Amino acid sequence: MPESNIPVLTIDGPSGSGKGTISRAVAARLGWHYLDSGALYRAVGVAAGWADLDLDDAGALVRCAFDTVVGFRDDAGGEPRVLVNGHDATDELRTETAGAAASAIAAIPEVRSALKERQRAFRQAPGLVADGRDMGTVIFPDAGWKVFLTASAEERAERRYKQLKDKGVSVTLDGLLREILARDARDASRAVAPLRPAEDAVRIDTTGQGIEAVVERVLALVPGRAG
Ligand code: DC
Repeated sequence: MPESNIPVLTIDGPSGSGKGTISRAVAARLGWHYLDSGALYRAVGVAAGWADLDLDDAGALVRCAFDTVVGFRDDAGGEPRVLVNGHDATDELRTETAGAAASAIAAIPEVRSALKERQRAFRQAPGLVADGRDMGTVIFPDAGWKVFLTASAEERAERRYKQLKDKGVSVTLDGLLREILARDARDASRAVAPLRPAEDAVRIDTTGQGIEAVVERVLALVPGRAG
């Protein structure tokens, strides 16, 4: 099947909007592949940290983006494991440090181009659910269905707070809220691929909504596809 005929559903939005959980659930219901594009940026951030690269050295970061090998391995029922240069880095990728590094390197245009074809290669039959910031605007502008998920910054901070607390990480709600607002501002104001909804995206506000309800709303957009 020509790649452009393989269906794609894009789910973009800021961190904490529920994108990851909802995208994975939708992909599982459709029996489609899943692309966690944020994990690619985080993987480069983590690999840059391992190599002790300076986050201001764009040239080194671009080389790092080309060289970093990222693999995804399904984990029965849970989040897929992410291998960075052969090491299981799933937990490290989720840290605030990795998120901040990812956000900083994601602002470098050559890093974004280095990862472009890698993301498009996930478009495989029978279909793809692509989760990120610029899936509907830049990577898969011809996607059949585009969703932009939002949630209030306060609710996103609370969700993150609960996740981290469950993992035993000590953080304050206030600190998280400040980080989320700073990251939103950086992701929305960068010159390349800023976080914004595609013109043809359906916006869904997940504030106060359960996961299942949002999953159903997304699936309803893909007629005849929900199993
Ligand atoms: O979705 P996430 O929190 O795992 O993403 C981490 C960072 O990577 C986020 O701050 C912005 C960047 N990112 C991006 O610029 N484009 C994407 N498609 C996905 C993530």
